[in-house]
Amino acid sequence: MKLNVNGREHEIDAPPDMPLLWALRDLMHLTGTKFGCGIAQCGACTVHVDGAPRRACVTPVSSVEGKTIVTIEGLSPDGSHPVQRAWAEVDVVQCGYCQSGQIMSAAALLAKIPAPSDADIDQALSGNLCRCGTYPRIRAAVKRAAEIGKA
Ligand code: FES
Ligand code: FES
Repeated sequence: MKLNVNGREHEIDAPPDMPLLWALRDLMHLTGTKFGCGIAQCGACTVHVDGAPRRACVTPVSSVEGKTIVTIEGLSPDGSHPVQRAWAEVDVVQCGYCQSGQIMSAAALLAKIPAPSDADIDQALSGNLCRCGTYPRIRAAVKRAAEIGKA
């Protein structure tokens, strides 16, 4: 089947029920998207499907044929997306494992709501868990990304 990932068409040989996460990591070697829980509980595997955040661990690959998929590798070619810049400025990351999922959820939020409130941020990121407790820095970075996006 053919999948459009990060602006490129990928032809893969996969059973229709293979989780998108497996296809991204094992067949396309896009390993920035992480496996955390495998049951839609942690958000580590978050990617964008047609611009909306989606848990790749529970998304059958056949369900996203013909859709536009973006992973952390495709957010910007050089780390210049406002969310990536804000994350670096605020120095959000601790161990890093959850962070590509956090960034993808934050980017989807800002695409929809350019100046989100604390409640918007908490709601949009409530499905992204961080064992290192970086939540205060994540919230600060989303606000900083909103400012960078405005500039
Ligand atoms: S690995 Fe997909 S939500 Fe945890
Ligand atoms: S930075 Fe370690 S799990 Fe979030």
